Amino acid sequence: MATVGLLHPGEMGAAVGGCLVSVGHEVLWDPAGRSRATTGRALSAKLTGAGFDRLIAKSTVIFSICPPHAAVDVARQVAATGYNGCYVDANAISVATAEQVCAVVTAAGATYVDGGIIGPPPEAAGHTRLYLSGPQANEVRPLFNRSALDARIAEGPQYAASSVKMAYAAWTKGSSALLLAARALARASGVERTLLAEWQLSQPHLTAQSERSAGSAASKGWRWVAEMEEIAASMTAAGLPDGFHEAAADVYDRACRADVPAGRRTATTPKETLETVISALM
Ligand SMILES: NC(=O)c1ccc[n+]([C@@H]2O[C@H](COP(=O)([O-])OP(=O)(O)OC[C@H]3O[C@@H](n4cnc5c(N)ncnc54)[C@H](OP(=O)(O)O)[C@@H]3O)[C@@H](O)[C@H]2O)c1
Repeated sequence: MATVGLLHPGEMGAAVGGCLVSVGHEVLWDPAGRSRATTGRALSAKLTGAGFDRLIAKSTVIFSICPPHAAVDVARQVAATGYNGCYVDANAISVATAEQVCAVVTAAGATYVDGGIIGPPPEAAGHTRLYLSGPQANEVRPLFNRSALDARIAEGPQYAASSVKMAYAAWTKGSSALLLAARALARASGVERTLLAEWQLSQPHLTAQSERSAGSAASKGWRWVAEMEEIAASMTAAGLPDGFHEAAADVYDRACRADVPAGRRTATTPKETLETVISALM
C-alpha cells in the first residue's frame, strides 16, 4: 500500500482521495490555508492531515487536483522542496501548461505523469475515468485497482490525458456556455418567450438544459474561466479557431459574478438562478 499526497481535497480531489483510502492507501493532505469546506471534505473522505513538509517526505506519489489556474503554482510549491517522487497533475490544463508543470517538477528530481479526469466526483464505480499518460503512467494506474475510479491509460503522446480532457470539456462546457449566450441573446432581443416556445416545439430538452447550465455556471464558473482559456490555448496550438472558448471564458466570468442574493446561492431555485445568470451575461 502506498502513501499518497493530495493537493487539494476539493470536490474532485476529496473523492479521488477517498477512492485511494477505500482500497487501503494512506492519503495525506495539507490543511494549511485551506477553507472549512476543504477540511470537511477531507475528514469525510478519511484523509490524513499532515504539514506540507511531512506530506512531501512521506508521499511516493503526489496528485495535484486543484483549480486549473493554480496548477503551475502548486507544482512550484512541490518542486521547491526538492520532491523526487512521482507527481501526477490531474487538472484540466492544456498540453502547454502540462509541459510547464512537467518541466518544473522534473527539474527538482520528480517524475511526471499526466492526468485528466472525466465524470463526476467518483462515489460509485462506473461513472468517472482518470486518464493517465506518459512513460510512468503504468506505475500510477494500479493504485486505483478495485476502487470506484476507473483509471485508464490514454494511448498516444506524452500529454494525451490532458488532451483528452481538453477535447471533452471543449464540447461539454463550451456548449453549455453557448446555450446560455443564445438564451441571453433572445432576451436582449426581446424574443425570449418566442424562443422558449420554439424550443418546446423543436428542441424540448433545451429549456431545462439552460437552467442546469446556469446553475453550474453560477457555482463553478469561477473555476471554468481558466479551463476555457486552457482549451482556447489548445485550439490555437492545434491551428483551430480559439474564439469559441475565449467567448465561453467570458460567459463563465460574467456568470460567476451573478448577483445571487447573499446566503441564497444554494437555496435559489433553478429558475431564479437562471434569471440572475442571464442578467449577468447581458
Ligand atoms: N468537480 C468535478 O466534477 C470535476 C470533474 C472533472 C475534473 N475536475 C478537475 O478537478 C480539479 C479540481 O476540481 P474540484 O471540483 O475539486 O474543485 P474545487 O471543489 O473548487 O476544489 C478546489 C480545491 O483546490 C483548492 N484551491 C482553491 N484555490 C487554490 C489555489 N489558488 N491554489 C491551490 N489550491 C487551491 C481548494 O481549497 P480551498 O477552497 O479550501 O481554498 C479546494 O480544496 C480541476 O482541475 C477540475 O478540472 C473536476
